[in-house]
Amino acid sequence: MAKKVVSTGSTTAKTGSTTVQAGFDYAPAPESRAIVDIKSSYGLFINGEFVDSTGGNSFKTISPSTEEVLAEIAEANDADVDAAVRAARRAYTRVWSKMSGAERGKYLYRIARIIQERAREFAVLESIDNGKPIKESRDVDVPTVAAHFFYYAGWADKLEFSGFGPDPKPLGVAGQIIPWNFPLLMLAWKIAPALACGNTVVLKPAETTPLTALLFAEVCQQADLPPGVVNIVTGAGPTGQAIVSHPDVDKVAFTGSTDVGRAIAKAIAGTEKKVTLELGGKAANIVFEDSPVDQAVEGIVNGIFFNQGHVCCAGSRLLVQESVADEVLERLKRRMATLRVGDPLDKNTDIGAINSAEQLAKIRELSEIGELEGAERWSPPCELPAHGFWFPPTIFTGVTAAHRIAREEIFGPVLSVITFRTPAEAVEKANNTPFGLSAGIWTEKGSRILWMASRLRAGVVWANTFNRFDPTSPFGGYKESGYGREGGRHGLEAYLR
Ligand code: NAI
Ligand code: MG
Repeated sequence: MAKKVVSTGSTTAKTGSTTVQAGFDYAPAPESRAIVDIKSSYGLFINGEFVDSTGGNSFKTISPSTEEVLAEIAEANDADVDAAVRAARRAYTRVWSKMSGAERGKYLYRIARIIQERAREFAVLESIDNGKPIKESRDVDVPTVAAHFFYYAGWADKLEFSGFGPDPKPLGVAGQIIPWNFPLLMLAWKIAPALACGNTVVLKPAETTPLTALLFAEVCQQADLPPGVVNIVTGAGPTGQAIVSHPDVDKVAFTGSTDVGRAIAKAIAGTEKKVTLELGGKAANIVFEDSPVDQAVEGIVNGIFFNQGHVCCAGSRLLVQESVADEVLERLKRRMATLRVGDPLDKNTDIGAINSAEQLAKIRELSEIGELEGAERWSPPCELPAHGFWFPPTIFTGVTAAHRIAREEIFGPVLSVITFRTPAEAVEKANNTPFGLSAGIWTEKGSRILWMASRLRAGVVWANTFNRFDPTSPFGGYKESGYGREGGRHGLEAYLR
Protein backbone atom coordinates (compact mmCIF):
# COMPACT_ATOMS: atom_id res chain seq x y z
CA MET A 1 0.00 0.00 0.00
CA ALA A 2 1.27 3.45 -0.82
CA LYS A 3 1.72 4.98 2.63
CA LYS A 4 -0.63 7.84 2.74
CA VAL A 5 -1.89 7.57 6.25
CA VAL A 6 -1.14 8.69 9.74
CA SER A 7 1.84 7.25 11.51
CA THR A 8 0.64 3.64 11.61
CA GLY A 9 3.44 2.52 9.35
CA SER A 10 6.16 2.86 11.94
CA THR A 11 5.93 0.92 15.16
CA THR A 12 6.59 4.03 17.20
CA ALA A 13 5.41 7.49 16.30
CA LYS A 14 6.58 10.46 18.26
CA THR A 15 3.61 12.76 18.73
CA GLY A 16 4.69 15.83 20.63
CA SER A 17 5.09 14.70 24.21
CA THR A 18 3.12 11.51 23.59
CA THR A 19 4.69 8.33 22.32
CA VAL A 20 2.35 6.02 20.47
CA GLN A 21 2.81 2.32 19.99
CA ALA A 22 1.21 1.04 16.82
CA GLY A 23 1.47 -2.72 16.83
CA PHE A 24 0.23 -3.49 13.35
CA ASP A 25 -0.44 -2.01 9.97
CA TYR A 26 -3.70 -2.00 8.03
CA ALA A 27 -4.02 -3.76 4.71
CA PRO A 28 -5.74 -1.63 2.07
CA ALA A 29 -9.50 -2.19 2.03
CA PRO A 30 -10.78 -0.24 -0.96
CA GLU A 31 -14.48 -0.19 -1.73
CA SER A 32 -15.00 -0.87 -5.43
CA ARG A 33 -16.05 2.00 -7.67
CA ALA A 34 -17.55 -0.46 -10.17
CA ILE A 35 -21.06 -0.02 -8.75
CA VAL A 36 -21.32 3.61 -9.88
CA ASP A 37 -21.83 4.70 -13.42
CA ILE A 38 -20.71 8.32 -13.67
CA LYS A 39 -21.76 9.84 -16.98
CA SER A 40 -19.45 12.26 -18.75
CA SER A 41 -22.10 14.99 -18.62
CA TYR A 42 -25.37 15.73 -16.84
CA GLY A 43 -28.30 17.95 -17.77
CA LEU A 44 -30.88 19.62 -15.55
CA PHE A 45 -33.75 17.56 -14.12
CA ILE A 46 -36.88 19.50 -15.00
CA ASN A 47 -40.43 18.13 -15.24
CA GLY A 48 -39.26 14.55 -14.83
CA GLU A 49 -36.64 14.63 -17.59
CA PHE A 50 -32.99 15.49 -18.01
CA VAL A 51 -32.70 18.51 -20.31
CA ASP A 52 -29.86 20.69 -21.56
CA SER A 53 -29.41 24.14 -20.11
CA THR A 54 -30.70 26.83 -22.47
CA GLY A 55 -27.52 28.87 -22.08
CA GLY A 56 -25.30 25.91 -22.86
CA ASN A 57 -22.92 26.68 -20.00
CA SER A 58 -21.48 23.99 -17.81
CA PHE A 59 -18.99 23.41 -15.01
CA LYS A 60 -16.95 20.46 -13.78
CA THR A 61 -17.26 18.48 -10.60
CA ILE A 62 -14.08 16.85 -9.40
CA SER A 63 -13.05 14.27 -6.87
CA PRO A 64 -11.40 16.26 -4.08
CA SER A 65 -9.21 13.29 -3.13
CA THR A 66 -7.58 13.02 -6.56
CA GLU A 67 -8.57 16.25 -8.40
CA GLU A 68 -9.80 13.99 -11.20
CA VAL A 69 -12.63 15.53 -13.26
CA LEU A 70 -15.71 13.38 -12.74
CA ALA A 71 -18.31 14.98 -15.00
CA GLU A 72 -19.45 18.09 -16.81
CA ILE A 73 -22.55 19.58 -15.15
CA ALA A 74 -25.11 21.87 -16.79
CA GLU A 75 -25.33 25.35 -15.30
CA ALA A 76 -28.90 26.58 -14.93
CA ASN A 77 -29.53 30.21 -15.85
CA ASP A 78 -32.60 32.34 -15.05
CA ALA A 79 -34.62 30.83 -17.91
CA ASP A 80 -33.84 27.28 -16.75
CA VAL A 81 -34.80 28.12 -13.18
CA ASP A 82 -38.00 29.65 -14.50
CA ALA A 83 -38.78 26.45 -16.44
CA ALA A 84 -38.16 24.41 -13.28
CA VAL A 85 -40.40 26.64 -11.16
CA ARG A 86 -43.15 26.49 -13.80
CA ALA A 87 -42.91 22.68 -13.88
CA ALA A 88 -43.09 22.61 -10.08
CA ARG A 89 -46.12 24.93 -10.08
CA ARG A 90 -47.97 22.81 -12.66
CA ALA A 91 -47.26 19.63 -10.73
CA TYR A 92 -48.35 21.32 -7.51
CA THR A 93 -51.65 22.63 -8.87
CA ARG A 94 -52.68 19.71 -11.04
CA VAL A 95 -51.35 16.68 -9.18
CA TRP A 96 -49.46 16.84 -5.92
CA SER A 97 -51.61 19.17 -3.79
CA LYS A 98 -54.74 17.31 -4.95
CA MET A 99 -53.40 13.89 -4.06
CA SER A 100 -54.34 12.37 -0.70
CA GLY A 101 -51.67 12.27 1.96
CA ALA A 102 -51.79 8.48 1.91
CA GLU A 103 -50.98 8.47 -1.82
CA ARG A 104 -48.12 10.92 -1.38
CA GLY A 105 -46.83 8.73 1.42
CA LYS A 106 -46.69 5.75 -0.94
CA TYR A 107 -44.31 7.63 -3.23
CA LEU A 108 -42.12 8.63 -0.30
CA TYR A 109 -41.98 5.05 0.99
CA ARG A 110 -41.04 3.92 -2.51
CA ILE A 111 -38.23 6.49 -2.69
CA ALA A 112 -36.98 5.41 0.75
CA ARG A 113 -36.91 1.75 -0.29
CA ILE A 114 -35.11 2.48 -3.57
CA ILE A 115 -32.48 4.47 -1.66
CA GLN A 116 -31.97 1.48 0.62
CA GLU A 117 -31.70 -0.84 -2.36
CA ARG A 118 -29.18 1.44 -4.05
CA ALA A 119 -27.42 2.42 -0.81
CA ARG A 120 -23.96 1.23 -1.81
CA GLU A 121 -24.16 3.10 -5.11
CA PHE A 122 -25.13 6.30 -3.31
CA ALA A 123 -22.43 5.86 -0.66
CA VAL A 124 -19.64 5.27 -3.18
CA LEU A 125 -20.76 8.18 -5.36
CA GLU A 126 -20.99 10.50 -2.36
CA SER A 127 -17.48 9.59 -1.21
CA ILE A 128 -16.05 10.11 -4.70
CA ASP A 129 -17.70 13.50 -5.30
CA ASN A 130 -17.45 14.88 -1.76
CA GLY A 131 -14.28 13.26 -0.37
CA LYS A 132 -15.86 11.90 2.81
CA PRO A 133 -14.80 8.45 4.06
CA ILE A 134 -16.87 5.55 2.79
CA LYS A 135 -17.51 4.33 6.33
CA GLU A 136 -19.37 7.57 7.01
CA SER A 137 -21.31 7.79 3.74
CA ARG A 138 -22.17 4.09 4.09
CA ASP A 139 -23.00 4.03 7.81
CA VAL A 140 -24.26 7.55 8.50
CA ASP A 141 -25.26 9.61 5.47
CA VAL A 142 -27.17 7.13 3.33
CA PRO A 143 -28.99 5.23 6.13
CA THR A 144 -30.06 8.56 7.63
CA VAL A 145 -31.31 9.68 4.20
CA ALA A 146 -33.51 6.58 3.89
CA ALA A 147 -34.67 7.03 7.49
CA HIS A 148 -35.72 10.60 6.70
CA PHE A 149 -37.87 9.54 3.76
CA PHE A 150 -39.43 6.73 5.81
CA TYR A 151 -40.10 9.10 8.70
CA TYR A 152 -41.81 11.81 6.62
CA ALA A 153 -43.66 9.21 4.53
CA GLY A 154 -45.33 8.30 7.81
CA TRP A 155 -46.47 11.89 8.40
CA ALA A 156 -47.99 12.40 4.93
CA ASP A 157 -51.41 10.99 5.88
CA LYS A 158 -51.39 12.26 9.48
CA LEU A 159 -50.85 15.99 8.99
CA GLU A 160 -54.15 16.87 10.66
CA PHE A 161 -52.72 15.35 13.86
CA SER A 162 -49.39 17.15 13.65
CA GLY A 163 -50.46 20.05 15.83
CA PHE A 164 -50.67 22.64 13.07
CA GLY A 165 -54.46 22.95 12.87
CA PRO A 166 -57.22 20.60 11.74
CA ASP A 167 -56.54 20.90 8.02
CA PRO A 168 -53.01 22.20 7.38
CA LYS A 169 -52.24 23.18 3.78
CA PRO A 170 -49.00 23.08 1.81
CA LEU A 171 -47.27 26.32 0.83
CA GLY A 172 -46.80 25.61 -2.88
CA VAL A 173 -43.43 25.62 -4.62
CA ALA A 174 -40.36 25.35 -2.38
CA GLY A 175 -36.96 26.60 -3.59
CA GLN A 176 -34.25 24.67 -1.76
CA ILE A 177 -30.52 25.38 -1.74
CA ILE A 178 -28.13 22.99 -0.07
CA PRO A 179 -24.41 22.83 0.75
CA TRP A 180 -21.65 20.35 -0.03
CA ASN A 181 -20.90 18.85 3.37
CA PHE A 182 -23.77 16.31 3.44
CA PRO A 183 -25.03 16.52 -0.14
CA LEU A 184 -27.58 13.70 -0.16
CA LEU A 185 -28.54 14.06 3.50
CA MET A 186 -29.31 17.76 3.14
CA LEU A 187 -31.38 16.92 0.05
CA ALA A 188 -33.38 14.45 2.15
CA TRP A 189 -33.85 16.96 4.97
CA LYS A 190 -35.28 19.39 2.44
CA ILE A 191 -37.25 17.21 0.04
CA ALA A 192 -38.84 14.63 2.37
CA PRO A 193 -40.86 17.04 4.58
CA ALA A 194 -41.71 19.32 1.64
CA LEU A 195 -43.22 16.48 -0.37
CA ALA A 196 -44.95 14.89 2.64
CA CYS A 197 -46.78 18.19 3.23
CA GLY A 198 -47.87 18.45 -0.42
CA ASN A 199 -45.37 20.97 -1.77
CA THR A 200 -43.33 20.57 -4.93
CA VAL A 201 -39.68 21.55 -5.08
CA VAL A 202 -36.88 23.08 -7.11
CA LEU A 203 -33.62 22.07 -5.45
CA LYS A 204 -30.08 23.23 -6.16
CA PRO A 205 -27.21 21.08 -4.92
CA ALA A 206 -23.84 22.69 -4.22
CA GLU A 207 -21.57 23.16 -7.23
CA THR A 208 -18.83 20.87 -5.87
CA THR A 209 -21.16 17.97 -5.03
CA PRO A 210 -24.02 17.63 -7.55
CA LEU A 211 -23.74 13.92 -8.37
CA THR A 212 -25.85 12.26 -5.68
CA ALA A 213 -28.65 14.79 -6.24
CA LEU A 214 -28.60 13.86 -9.93
CA LEU A 215 -28.69 10.16 -9.01
CA PHE A 216 -31.63 10.99 -6.75
CA ALA A 217 -33.35 12.47 -9.82
CA GLU A 218 -33.04 9.01 -11.40
CA VAL A 219 -34.62 7.54 -8.28
CA CYS A 220 -37.59 9.90 -8.75
CA GLN A 221 -37.98 8.52 -12.27
CA GLN A 222 -37.65 4.96 -11.00
CA ALA A 223 -40.33 5.64 -8.35
CA ASP A 224 -42.68 7.04 -11.04
CA LEU A 225 -42.93 10.29 -9.11
CA PRO A 226 -45.22 12.59 -11.13
CA PRO A 227 -43.13 14.89 -13.37
CA GLY A 228 -42.40 18.30 -11.86
CA VAL A 229 -42.83 17.30 -8.21
CA VAL A 230 -39.05 17.28 -7.82
CA ASN A 231 -36.82 19.42 -10.05
CA ILE A 232 -33.04 19.52 -9.65
CA VAL A 233 -31.16 22.47 -11.11
CA THR A 234 -27.38 22.63 -10.93
CA GLY A 235 -25.20 25.71 -10.78
CA ALA A 236 -23.46 28.03 -8.34
CA GLY A 237 -24.45 31.22 -6.49
CA PRO A 238 -26.26 32.92 -9.42
CA THR A 239 -28.47 29.85 -9.93
CA GLY A 240 -29.29 29.95 -6.22
CA GLN A 241 -30.11 33.65 -6.47
CA ALA A 242 -32.45 32.97 -9.39
CA ILE A 243 -34.37 30.47 -7.25
CA VAL A 244 -34.55 32.80 -4.25
CA SER A 245 -35.77 35.76 -6.27
CA HIS A 246 -38.21 33.88 -8.51
CA PRO A 247 -41.64 35.45 -7.92
CA ASP A 248 -43.50 32.13 -8.04
CA VAL A 249 -41.46 30.47 -5.29
CA ASP A 250 -43.49 30.36 -2.05
CA LYS A 251 -40.82 29.15 0.33
CA VAL A 252 -37.05 29.25 0.46
CA ALA A 253 -35.07 26.71 2.46
CA PHE A 254 -31.33 27.23 2.69
CA THR A 255 -28.41 25.52 4.39
CA GLY A 256 -24.97 27.07 4.03
CA SER A 257 -22.87 30.00 5.11
CA THR A 258 -24.15 32.78 7.35
CA ASP A 259 -23.17 35.37 4.73
CA VAL A 260 -25.31 33.84 2.00
CA GLY A 261 -28.09 33.24 4.55
CA ARG A 262 -28.06 36.94 5.35
CA ALA A 263 -28.19 37.84 1.63
CA ILE A 264 -31.17 35.51 1.18
CA ALA A 265 -33.01 37.01 4.16
CA LYS A 266 -32.50 40.45 2.60
CA ALA A 267 -33.58 39.33 -0.86
CA ILE A 268 -36.91 38.00 0.35
CA ALA A 269 -37.64 40.72 2.92
CA GLY A 270 -40.97 42.34 2.11
CA THR A 271 -42.22 39.41 0.02
CA GLU A 272 -44.76 36.75 1.01
CA LYS A 273 -42.10 34.05 0.89
CA LYS A 274 -41.53 31.89 3.94
CA VAL A 275 -37.92 31.06 4.79
CA THR A 276 -35.85 28.69 6.88
CA LEU A 277 -32.10 29.21 7.25
CA GLU A 278 -29.69 26.62 8.59
CA LEU A 279 -26.35 28.39 8.97
CA GLY A 280 -23.02 28.08 10.70
CA GLY A 281 -21.92 27.11 14.17
CA LYS A 282 -19.08 27.16 16.66
CA ALA A 283 -20.25 24.57 19.13
CA ALA A 284 -18.78 24.00 22.56
CA ASN A 285 -18.09 20.40 23.55
CA ILE A 286 -17.86 20.66 27.34
CA VAL A 287 -15.93 18.04 29.30
CA PHE A 288 -16.27 17.99 33.11
CA GLU A 289 -13.79 16.39 35.47
CA ASP A 290 -16.22 13.61 36.38
CA SER A 291 -16.77 12.51 32.78
CA PRO A 292 -15.68 9.05 31.61
CA VAL A 293 -12.51 10.26 29.93
CA ASP A 294 -12.12 7.63 27.22
CA GLN A 295 -15.71 8.08 26.09
CA ALA A 296 -15.30 11.85 26.18
CA VAL A 297 -12.19 11.57 24.01
CA GLU A 298 -14.15 9.51 21.47
CA GLY A 299 -16.85 12.18 21.59
CA ILE A 300 -14.33 14.96 21.05
CA VAL A 301 -12.85 13.10 18.06
CA ASN A 302 -16.29 12.41 16.62
CA GLY A 303 -17.32 15.99 17.33
CA ILE A 304 -14.59 17.64 15.28
CA PHE A 305 -13.04 15.05 12.95
CA PHE A 306 -16.26 13.45 11.69
CA ASN A 307 -16.72 14.47 8.04
CA GLN A 308 -13.37 16.36 8.11
CA GLY A 309 -15.02 18.86 10.45
CA HIS A 310 -17.24 20.05 7.58
CA VAL A 311 -20.19 20.00 9.95
CA CYS A 312 -22.26 23.03 10.94
CA CYS A 313 -22.83 21.53 14.41
CA ALA A 314 -19.21 20.33 14.83
CA GLY A 315 -17.79 20.48 18.35
CA SER A 316 -15.10 22.90 17.22
CA ARG A 317 -14.46 24.39 20.67
CA LEU A 318 -13.41 21.94 23.35
CA LEU A 319 -14.17 23.35 26.79
CA VAL A 320 -12.35 21.14 29.26
CA GLN A 321 -12.33 21.52 33.03
CA GLU A 322 -8.91 22.68 34.17
CA SER A 323 -8.41 19.86 36.68
CA VAL A 324 -8.51 17.21 33.92
CA ALA A 325 -7.23 19.24 30.99
CA ASP A 326 -3.76 17.67 30.89
CA GLU A 327 -5.09 14.14 31.07
CA VAL A 328 -7.79 14.73 28.44
CA LEU A 329 -5.32 16.39 26.08
CA GLU A 330 -2.76 13.63 26.48
CA ARG A 331 -5.33 10.94 25.69
CA LEU A 332 -6.79 13.02 22.86
CA LYS A 333 -3.37 13.36 21.23
CA ARG A 334 -2.76 9.66 21.55
CA ARG A 335 -6.12 8.96 19.92
CA MET A 336 -5.53 11.49 17.16
CA ALA A 337 -2.26 9.75 16.25
CA THR A 338 -4.30 6.65 15.33
CA LEU A 339 -6.66 8.48 12.94
CA ARG A 340 -6.12 7.41 9.36
CA VAL A 341 -6.22 10.18 6.78
CA GLY A 342 -6.42 9.23 3.11
CA ASP A 343 -8.40 7.55 0.34
CA PRO A 344 -12.11 8.14 1.03
CA LEU A 345 -12.97 4.80 -0.56
CA ASP A 346 -10.72 2.84 1.82
CA LYS A 347 -12.96 1.28 4.48
CA ASN A 348 -10.34 1.96 7.17
CA THR A 349 -10.11 5.69 6.45
CA ASP A 350 -11.22 7.97 9.29
CA ILE A 351 -10.61 11.36 7.69
CA GLY A 352 -11.08 11.93 3.98
CA ALA A 353 -10.36 14.86 1.68
CA ILE A 354 -11.22 18.51 2.24
CA ASN A 355 -14.07 19.26 -0.14
CA SER A 356 -12.47 21.95 -2.29
CA ALA A 357 -9.35 24.02 -2.84
CA GLU A 358 -11.30 27.07 -1.59
CA GLN A 359 -12.26 25.36 1.65
CA LEU A 360 -8.69 24.12 2.15
CA ALA A 361 -7.41 27.68 1.68
CA LYS A 362 -9.87 28.93 4.31
CA ILE A 363 -8.82 26.25 6.83
CA ARG A 364 -5.14 27.01 6.23
CA GLU A 365 -5.67 30.73 6.55
CA LEU A 366 -7.56 30.53 9.85
CA SER A 367 -5.03 28.03 11.23
CA GLU A 368 -2.17 30.37 10.38
CA ILE A 369 -4.04 33.22 12.03
CA GLY A 370 -4.43 31.00 15.12
CA GLU A 371 -0.66 30.64 15.33
CA LEU A 372 -0.05 34.34 14.69
CA GLU A 373 -2.47 35.24 17.47
CA GLY A 374 -0.45 33.10 19.86
CA ALA A 375 -2.26 29.78 20.16
CA GLU A 376 -0.20 26.59 20.06
CA ARG A 377 -0.81 24.26 17.13
CA TRP A 378 -0.42 20.47 17.20
CA SER A 379 -1.05 17.67 14.70
CA PRO A 380 0.09 14.06 14.83
CA PRO A 381 2.73 13.03 12.29
CA CYS A 382 0.71 12.73 9.15
CA GLU A 383 1.76 11.95 5.62
CA LEU A 384 -0.78 13.43 3.25
CA PRO A 385 -1.43 12.25 -0.32
CA ALA A 386 0.34 14.21 -3.04
CA HIS A 387 -2.82 15.03 -5.02
CA GLY A 388 -6.14 16.31 -3.80
CA PHE A 389 -7.04 18.55 -0.86
CA TRP A 390 -5.93 17.46 2.61
CA PHE A 391 -5.55 18.84 6.08
CA PRO A 392 -4.27 16.89 9.10
CA PRO A 393 -6.32 16.61 12.29
CA THR A 394 -5.24 19.63 14.31
CA ILE A 395 -5.70 21.05 17.78
CA PHE A 396 -4.93 24.47 19.17
CA THR A 397 -4.23 24.98 22.87
CA GLY A 398 -3.78 28.25 24.69
CA VAL A 399 -6.82 29.65 22.89
CA THR A 400 -8.64 32.64 24.35
CA ALA A 401 -12.14 33.91 23.60
CA ALA A 402 -10.69 36.79 21.60
CA HIS A 403 -8.87 34.55 19.10
CA ARG A 404 -10.44 34.28 15.68
CA ILE A 405 -10.12 30.48 15.82
CA ALA A 406 -12.39 30.60 18.90
CA ARG A 407 -15.01 32.77 17.21
CA GLU A 408 -15.15 31.93 13.50
CA GLU A 409 -16.33 28.78 11.85
CA ILE A 410 -13.28 27.00 10.38
CA PHE A 411 -15.34 24.14 8.90
CA GLY A 412 -12.39 21.79 8.93
CA PRO A 413 -10.60 19.27 11.21
CA VAL A 414 -9.37 21.94 13.61
CA LEU A 415 -10.21 22.02 17.32
CA SER A 416 -9.73 25.00 19.63
CA VAL A 417 -9.13 24.00 23.24
CA ILE A 418 -10.24 26.29 26.06
CA THR A 419 -10.29 25.51 29.79
CA PHE A 420 -12.78 26.42 32.53
CA ARG A 421 -13.05 25.94 36.30
CA THR A 422 -16.74 26.06 37.23
CA PRO A 423 -20.00 25.09 35.49
CA ALA A 424 -21.03 28.76 35.44
CA GLU A 425 -17.79 29.66 33.66
CA ALA A 426 -18.40 26.84 31.17
CA VAL A 427 -21.85 28.22 30.37
CA GLU A 428 -20.52 31.72 29.95
CA LYS A 429 -17.72 30.63 27.64
CA ALA A 430 -19.94 28.26 25.65
CA ASN A 431 -22.49 31.02 25.03
CA ASN A 432 -19.85 33.58 24.14
CA THR A 433 -20.32 33.16 20.37
CA PRO A 434 -22.47 34.74 17.69
CA PHE A 435 -23.73 31.23 16.81
CA GLY A 436 -26.05 28.86 18.65
CA LEU A 437 -26.52 25.60 16.82
CA SER A 438 -25.33 22.82 19.10
CA ALA A 439 -23.41 21.92 22.25
CA GLY A 440 -22.17 18.82 24.04
CA ILE A 441 -21.89 18.01 27.76
CA TRP A 442 -19.76 15.23 29.22
CA THR A 443 -20.40 14.44 32.88
CA GLU A 444 -21.57 11.61 35.08
CA LYS A 445 -24.14 13.82 36.83
CA GLY A 446 -27.66 13.90 35.39
CA SER A 447 -28.49 17.02 37.40
CA ARG A 448 -25.52 18.84 35.87
CA ILE A 449 -26.61 17.86 32.37
CA LEU A 450 -30.03 19.41 32.98
CA TRP A 451 -28.57 22.49 34.67
CA MET A 452 -26.22 23.07 31.76
CA ALA A 453 -28.71 22.25 29.01
CA SER A 454 -31.21 24.79 30.30
CA ARG A 455 -28.55 27.53 30.18
CA LEU A 456 -26.84 26.79 26.87
CA ARG A 457 -28.11 28.91 23.99
CA ALA A 458 -27.98 26.12 21.41
CA GLY A 459 -30.67 24.43 19.33
CA VAL A 460 -29.33 20.94 20.01
CA VAL A 461 -27.60 19.85 23.22
CA TRP A 462 -26.04 16.39 23.29
CA ALA A 463 -25.20 14.74 26.61
CA ASN A 464 -22.41 12.14 26.71
CA THR A 465 -22.57 11.84 22.92
CA PHE A 466 -22.08 14.14 19.95
CA ASN A 467 -23.12 14.52 16.29
CA ARG A 468 -26.08 12.17 16.58
CA PHE A 469 -28.77 12.65 13.96
CA ASP A 470 -32.23 11.19 13.92
CA PRO A 471 -35.16 12.10 11.69
CA THR A 472 -37.53 12.27 14.66
CA SER A 473 -35.49 15.00 16.36
CA PRO A 474 -35.77 18.68 15.41
CA PHE A 475 -32.53 20.44 14.43
CA GLY A 476 -31.82 24.16 14.09
CA GLY A 477 -30.22 27.15 15.70
CA TYR A 478 -30.32 30.40 17.61
CA LYS A 479 -28.75 33.74 16.72
CA GLU A 480 -26.49 33.66 13.62
CA SER A 481 -27.02 29.93 13.24
CA GLY A 482 -30.31 30.70 11.55
CA TYR A 483 -34.00 30.12 12.17
CA GLY A 484 -36.58 27.42 11.73
CA ARG A 485 -36.30 23.74 12.57
CA GLU A 486 -35.74 20.74 10.34
CA GLY A 487 -36.55 17.19 11.31
CA GLY A 488 -39.20 15.73 13.56
CA ARG A 489 -42.76 16.98 13.84
CA HIS A 490 -41.37 20.51 14.15
CA GLY A 491 -39.89 20.20 10.66
CA LEU A 492 -43.39 19.99 9.16
CA GLU A 493 -44.18 23.53 10.23
CA ALA A 494 -41.76 24.98 7.69
CA TYR A 495 -43.80 23.47 4.84
CA LEU A 496 -47.36 24.09 6.05
CA ARG A 497 -49.55 27.15 5.90
P1 NAI B 1 -22.22 28.92 0.52
O1 NAI B 1 -23.17 29.42 1.54
O2 NAI B 1 -21.68 29.87 -0.49
O3 NAI B 1 -22.90 27.72 -0.30
C1 NAI B 1 -24.04 27.01 0.09
C2 NAI B 1 -25.02 26.90 -1.07
O4 NAI B 1 -25.52 28.20 -1.38
C3 NAI B 1 -24.42 26.38 -2.36
O5 NAI B 1 -25.38 25.57 -3.00
C4 NAI B 1 -24.16 27.64 -3.16
O6 NAI B 1 -24.14 27.44 -4.54
C5 NAI B 1 -25.35 28.48 -2.77
N1 NAI B 1 -25.20 29.93 -2.93
C6 NAI B 1 -24.04 30.65 -2.93
N2 NAI B 1 -24.31 31.96 -3.05
C7 NAI B 1 -25.65 32.08 -3.14
C8 NAI B 1 -26.55 33.20 -3.25
N3 NAI B 1 -26.11 34.46 -3.29
N4 NAI B 1 -27.88 32.96 -3.30
C9 NAI B 1 -28.35 31.71 -3.21
N5 NAI B 1 -27.57 30.62 -3.10
C10 NAI B 1 -26.22 30.79 -3.05
O7 NAI B 1 -21.03 28.21 1.31
P2 NAI B 1 -19.53 27.94 0.77
O8 NAI B 1 -18.99 29.16 0.11
O9 NAI B 1 -19.51 26.68 0.03
O10 NAI B 1 -18.77 27.74 2.15
C11 NAI B 1 -18.28 28.86 2.86
C12 NAI B 1 -18.40 28.65 4.36
O11 NAI B 1 -19.77 28.50 4.71
C13 NAI B 1 -17.76 27.38 4.87
O12 NAI B 1 -16.39 27.56 5.08
C14 NAI B 1 -18.52 27.15 6.14
O13 NAI B 1 -17.99 27.94 7.18
C15 NAI B 1 -19.90 27.64 5.81
N6 NAI B 1 -20.81 26.54 5.42
C16 NAI B 1 -21.74 26.12 6.34
C17 NAI B 1 -22.54 25.05 6.04
C18 NAI B 1 -23.55 24.55 7.00
O14 NAI B 1 -23.90 23.39 6.95
N7 NAI B 1 -24.08 25.38 7.86
C19 NAI B 1 -22.44 24.33 4.77
C20 NAI B 1 -21.47 24.89 3.85
C21 NAI B 1 -20.70 25.93 4.21
MG1 MG C 1 -17.05 17.18 -6.36
